[in-house]
Amino acid sequence: MAIAMKIPFFGNDREYLEHETLFSETSKEVWSSGQYLNSPLVDRFEKKMANYCQRDFAIALNSCTDALIFALKCLNLPPRSKVIVPNFSFVASATAILHNELTPVFCDIDPNSFMLTRSELEKVYDSSCKAIIMVSLYGALPNIADIDSFANERNLHIIEDAAQSLGANLNSVKAGSIGSFSTISFDPTKTLHGTGTGGLLLTNNEKFYEMAKQLRLHGKSKNEGFNVLGRKSLMPSHDALLLEKKLDLLEGWVNRRNLIAQHYDNALKDSNALRPAFRHQFGQHAFHKYVLSCNTKETRDLLQNFLTKKGITTRVHYSKPINKEPIFENLEANTPNVEIICERILSLPIFHELRDEEVDYICKALIEFQTL
Ligand SMILES: Cc1ncc(COP(=O)(O)O)c(C=O)c1O
Repeated sequence: MAIAMKIPFFGNDREYLEHETLFSETSKEVWSSGQYLNSPLVDRFEKKMANYCQRDFAIALNSCTDALIFALKCLNLPPRSKVIVPNFSFVASATAILHNELTPVFCDIDPNSFMLTRSELEKVYDSSCKAIIMVSLYGALPNIADIDSFANERNLHIIEDAAQSLGANLNSVKAGSIGSFSTISFDPTKTLHGTGTGGLLLTNNEKFYEMAKQLRLHGKSKNEGFNVLGRKSLMPSHDALLLEKKLDLLEGWVNRRNLIAQHYDNALKDSNALRPAFRHQFGQHAFHKYVLSCNTKETRDLLQNFLTKKGITTRVHYSKPINKEPIFENLEANTPNVEIICERILSLPIFHELRDEEVDYICKALIEFQTL
């Protein structure tokens, strides 16, 4: 089979070509200011993000991983308290719990949305659970109203892991606005990303805000020196300014991703073996990832091979339940849906710089696979 096109999984190099002036002006502004860390540019970016996510406070950090770790640290939970986390996410959603010497409780997910539900939470909850890490997966939000009421009835904190979902909403509730904290990632794999690593913690609680600011700067307090154990987790001014400018482009990028997703949905609509990506009826999906699911592992592997031969790069997010990672070796999980889903999913390229002819090519390949 001749490869007509080579389609990568990410298109960051294309973003640079399209917005070269924005990048060069940003660099000039920051380098000429001479203020590379802790600058007013970072404060300004934080205010813009808090406003965008309808939060009172935002704290720019080195990563979303740090945002998750700091969120749990601010809660100051009793040692070994349990924190519920879906067994299907990027590993950082759960390692943040270990970093705080707390106990992860791995929860199963809904086979349709791939996210937490009230009924799955009920199966794992006991009174030592103090918080839930609620992951908004692939750029969609879970059923927030259900999870919120479950948490409120039991006095559980929700930490919204919105690493993948900036730009999404559900029933007018925005990603980044839910629970005691939200955490955002600006890693280069994300729709809105900086030049390297970056993250954000959002909250409406002033006490948590002050504590997170201490934690990101070695634990330094306003008047009492270094009185908690923190570390260095700062966002460089260069990334803050770049992200501030790029935030204005996010909506257009999310719309483009939705358009591409619509084409993939159409290409899959008549298939019995391939199911299009999940989306809510009311709300905006941010399509950080487009993840289809297959009827069997064999179909998934055949499809992935077929697309690879066509020059189309695909990936699997995620190929095993989190608790199967060696770092969690002693922790049990009864999550049959996760086990099945890991074997049947496939992520298609969905970066916003994908060209129309590339989207057509991928759709044709998906349709051709269905005729084999
Ligand atoms: C769901 C989820 N949580 C947390 C993270 C960690 O983000 P970061 O790489 O910014 O630390 C990621 C990154 O991929 C993620 O997808």
